[in-house]
Amino acid sequence: MSAAGRTEPLGPPSSFAKRLLVTGGAGFIASHMIVSLVEDYPNYMIINLDKLDYCASLKNLETISNKQNYKFIQGDICNSHFVKLLFETEKIDIVLHFAAQTHVDLSFVRAFEFTYVNVYGTHVLVSAAHEARVEKFIYVSTDEVYGGSLDKEFDESSPKQPTNPYASSKAAAECFVQSYWERYKFPAVITRSSNVYGPHQYPEKVIPKFISLLQHNRKCCIHGSGLQTRNFLYATDVVEAFLTVLKKGKPGEIYNIGTNFEMSVLQLAKELIQLIKETSSESEMESWVDYVNDRPTNDMRYPMKSEKIHGLGWRPKVPWKEGIKKTIDWYRENFHNWKNAEKALEPFPV
Ligand SMILES: NC(=O)c1ccc[n+]([C@@H]2O[C@H](COP(=O)([O-])OP(=O)(O)OC[C@H]3O[C@@H](n4cnc5c(N)ncnc54)[C@H](O)[C@@H]3O)[C@@H](O)[C@H]2O)c1
Repeated sequence: MSAAGRTEPLGPPSSFAKRLLVTGGAGFIASHMIVSLVEDYPNYMIINLDKLDYCASLKNLETISNKQNYKFIQGDICNSHFVKLLFETEKIDIVLHFAAQTHVDLSFVRAFEFTYVNVYGTHVLVSAAHEARVEKFIYVSTDEVYGGSLDKEFDESSPKQPTNPYASSKAAAECFVQSYWERYKFPAVITRSSNVYGPHQYPEKVIPKFISLLQHNRKCCIHGSGLQTRNFLYATDVVEAFLTVLKKGKPGEIYNIGTNFEMSVLQLAKELIQLIKETSSESEMESWVDYVNDRPTNDMRYPMKSEKIHGLGWRPKVPWKEGIKKTIDWYRENFHNWKNAEKALEPFPV
């Protein structure tokens, strides 16, 4: 186990009101979560456990890496001995579990790795957290566990019908988490969120990929027709949702984190072309688009109701125009935060 990100030794565990373990904190969403927690909760110790996979970047955490209430530990959630020891030594009170293999395209070709990290790794973590008697365990899942739907809106009681290896591994991991609640009343809460966008996301995912391709004068590559639609939430809105669940989410419950904001992948490409290439001519926009083979399965929509989390007081706030502008500006300066970022722009063999 290696620790980095601070120079002074930490005080005894009791000197902080709570000790939070955030897994996958060098990745996209969890890095935003950590920055917010470290800045706004100085009496909480935030411990970031991440194995630093290809999509991770400690640059995502540069603004808080020297703070006294932050600690980075490089390690693997699948290493049960290490994880058990971590809970013993760090006296964790609360877990926010984000670490996962997350790229759907990759899941078709490396399915077993997704099962191993997302299912086995979550089981290791939930078991250690149970033994350590943590007071809350938030498992960050996805709307993709519902599978696609054209018009019927999913709520938290809708059946899980995943259609790709990534979504299947997230759904299976949910079952392990839920079984600890059923069997031991282990205080687990599950969230299922729509697609998230914003700074810090490795450019393999659709929004940063299209932005980065266009900023490198390359075409947006669209899977199939591009008529599949996705709902997009800005990163800071999702952080607010997790803070709401942390404070008010009930153990044993599931919360959808969704938005009515929805657009097709083709529409998304055209908006980004307009903003980055400053054109609204249809023929010029078409010249920045390349259609490639579709994924083996590609859900058309994930319509989802989020009334339950609205009842806790959360609503998304950041308008698309504002969020996408901040995201485009960020990638202009920070594309090289990952040393392998260029690789993410290559067409994916599916
Ligand atoms: N990005 C989205 O739009 C979205 C939407 C809904 C749900 N989610 C869920 O949110 C979570 C975070 O997603 P993201 O897009 O920020 O992910 P990401 O791919 O950007 O980051 C994942 C992080 O997990 C780390 N990691 C991977 N395997 C690990 C292991 N074995 N041990 C320790 N660390 C490991 C990686 O190094 C990386 O830093 C995931 O669980 C994902 O399923 C994401």
